[in-house]
Amino acid sequence: MVESAVISNGLDGIVVAETDISEVDGQRGQLIIKGRDVEDLGFASTFEQTCALLWPGGATAEELQKQFGQARVEAFEAHKDILPLLNREHPMDALRTATSLLVSGTQSDSQEFARITAAVGVFTASFSRLTQGKKLIAPDPTLTHSADYLRLIRDETPTAAEIAGMDTYLTTVSDHGMNASTFTARVVASTESDNVSCIVAAIGALKGPLHGGAPGPVLEMLSEIGSPENAEKWVNDELNSGKRIMGMGHRIYKVRDPRAAVFEKAISHLEKAGLKASRLELARAVERTCERILAERHPERPLKANVEFYTAVLLDALKVPGDLFSATFAVGRAAGWFAHVAEQRAKGRLIRPGSKYTGSYPKN
Ligand code: COA
Repeated sequence: MVESAVISNGLDGIVVAETDISEVDGQRGQLIIKGRDVEDLGFASTFEQTCALLWPGGATAEELQKQFGQARVEAFEAHKDILPLLNREHPMDALRTATSLLVSGTQSDSQEFARITAAVGVFTASFSRLTQGKKLIAPDPTLTHSADYLRLIRDETPTAAEIAGMDTYLTTVSDHGMNASTFTARVVASTESDNVSCIVAAIGALKGPLHGGAPGPVLEMLSEIGSPENAEKWVNDELNSGKRIMGMGHRIYKVRDPRAAVFEKAISHLEKAGLKASRLELARAVERTCERILAERHPERPLKANVEFYTAVLLDALKVPGDLFSATFAVGRAAGWFAHVAEQRAKGRLIRPGSKYTGSYPKN
């Protein structure tokens, strides 16, 4: 007999690593990254500052900005002829394939991590251009990673408020405890495989709708609902047909995901700077409806908005296309993946979980 309390999925709650990178408190709804509350960090840190905080070696944000700029240009020059060949795939598949073309190494220094993280941004932005039927353009090494990412996608120089919004987004999603893609990266690092393999595997894990694949569908949900009075019927129809509501629920959080509040605040900062986040009010109304209906159906289990719900609204306000949301998540999460890869290499052993055999045995 399988003891279901022990085997919910075989890994629930099992400590697989000691880490000083981040902690998720699901009861209180708190995310700490390197000793800082996510909201505090999200509004104080550029993406380069976040990488400087997360990665070993003591590189400053200014040094990292130079390394990122140079690495964006190099990644573009080396792959600009190949990227159009991947254009028919979903951006996450295209990103996974393109990233796998990078040269591998096993070093844990910021130059190496910047080289690959910068390429993830360039590839993602380039796929967006190709999908929109635009020609590829070269990165600008003098810009910050957030500024150049938005510029490459949108073909226009982003405003200071938009760059700050993208820095808040990338920083806020940079790390989140032992989530599925981070665990994947650590498992690969634990075998002493190379850095590119760690990130390619992590991208594959992030793609799934139960992890990083939800924000695109959240945007589609908001578009289909269209107006708050349609939410009740839409949500009930969806649940009655056996589907889940994207952007709601979380394995760890028993309260609202704190990153949802950070993104709501980031959106209000954009609005104060004159940019209209057209879906904010609708999103708030839909969230209330989802929360109420899910509480009626699952009184035993709190199902509240997670990070993806307001990711959709924030990235939409920054004019990032919906099919690029998951890949944009990877652009930020690469910072955390590499922090964990470095930590695993420095302190960890081969990760080799057990399983409980429930099959048959040979007779006699
Ligand atoms: N919509 C509807 N029902 C949901 C739900 C959602 N978003 N999330 C969980 N549930 C229900 C499940 O159907 C299940 O019901 P059942 O016991 O009647 O079968 C119950 O809650 C428990 O679900 P389970 O899959 O065990 O929870 P989990 O901890 O594994 O799930 C998520 C966590 C995030 C995978 C889940 O909440 C989900 O699928 N959310 C939607 C996808 C999403 O937003 N992903 C991004 C996560 S950051």
